[in-house]
Amino acid sequence: MKKSGIRNRTAVVTGGASGIGRSMARTLAGAGFSVAVADVDEARAGRVTTEIRSEGGEAEAFTCDVSRFEEVEALAEGARERLGPVGVLCNNAGIGGGVGASMDERGVDDWERVLGVNLLGVIHGVKAFTPRMIEDAAGGHVVNTASMASFLPSPGNGPYTTSKFAVLGLSEVLRLELAPHGIGVSVLCPGPFETGIWDGDETSDKGGDPSVLGPRVLAAIEENEPFVFTHPEFAPMVADRFDRILKRLREAGPAMERALRAAT
Ligand SMILES: NC(=O)c1ccc[n+]([C@@H]2O[C@H](COP(=O)([O-])OP(=O)(O)OC[C@H]3O[C@@H](n4cnc5c(N)ncnc54)[C@H](O)[C@@H]3O)[C@@H](O)[C@H]2O)c1
Repeated sequence: MKKSGIRNRTAVVTGGASGIGRSMARTLAGAGFSVAVADVDEARAGRVTTEIRSEGGEAEAFTCDVSRFEEVEALAEGARERLGPVGVLCNNAGIGGGVGASMDERGVDDWERVLGVNLLGVIHGVKAFTPRMIEDAAGGHVVNTASMASFLPSPGNGPYTTSKFAVLGLSEVLRLELAPHGIGVSVLCPGPFETGIWDGDETSDKGGDPSVLGPRVLAAIEENEPFVFTHPEFAPMVADRFDRILKRLREAGPAMERALRAAT
């Protein structure tokens, strides 16, 4: 590693058994990290560790449901015990939440399920790992997987979009808080990639091969990049949204004055 100065050589990847997480786990192992492949799917996590070992890397599988704090705590303890102090944490596990149903049609259980994995899962990772990383005083890096959905709301995608907006905000605060400890934070905001998250979805553009994301994320860790984007074609849509927000913000002064005059 060049600039990051991460001295602890264990990496933890949640949702490491498939898709984007599998790519990150394999790349980090290839870069010399001992990798904890953590996933709710025990069999697939085992298959990824076998794959990493066959490529000459070191990896252990951990069964963990990130929506349960006690399981993430056990992961933090177990990874440290079996592989050594953790230098890189990838809070990546996520579920899609189903596209199409509007908020009035969704039950509270739907919200709890999606936010439990996509948002609380990240919070649990931060809570279980970062105090140990701070105490180790050996640098480090946290990668949180958000989405382009963190910037571009679309109808029928309420719980997922809400979770990914929140992961973006959380990551930006975390970056400010961990910087004094020499721990970097990147938020990964992928566009569409063909992974298990699309299983059962026949309508969406499923995107390309996620294996490019491991090398991309490793570079972001080395450079402590705040945002990791993959699909520049979304830039005009993001610019349009920010332009509309800024226009309203700039009009806030006169609008407040008008309201004040109307009230007096
Ligand atoms: N694929 C895309 O197009 C895309 C785009 C933007 C963001 N993302 C995000 O990327 C991340 C990884 O998803 P992916 O696309 O690789 O999908 P994937 O389904 O291939 O991989 C997700 C992994 O997370 C695991 N997982 C699910 N719930 C879990 C839980 N409660 N605890 C632990 N592990 C759990 C799954 O078993 C699976 O192995 C997610 O956060 C997703 O929201 C994906």
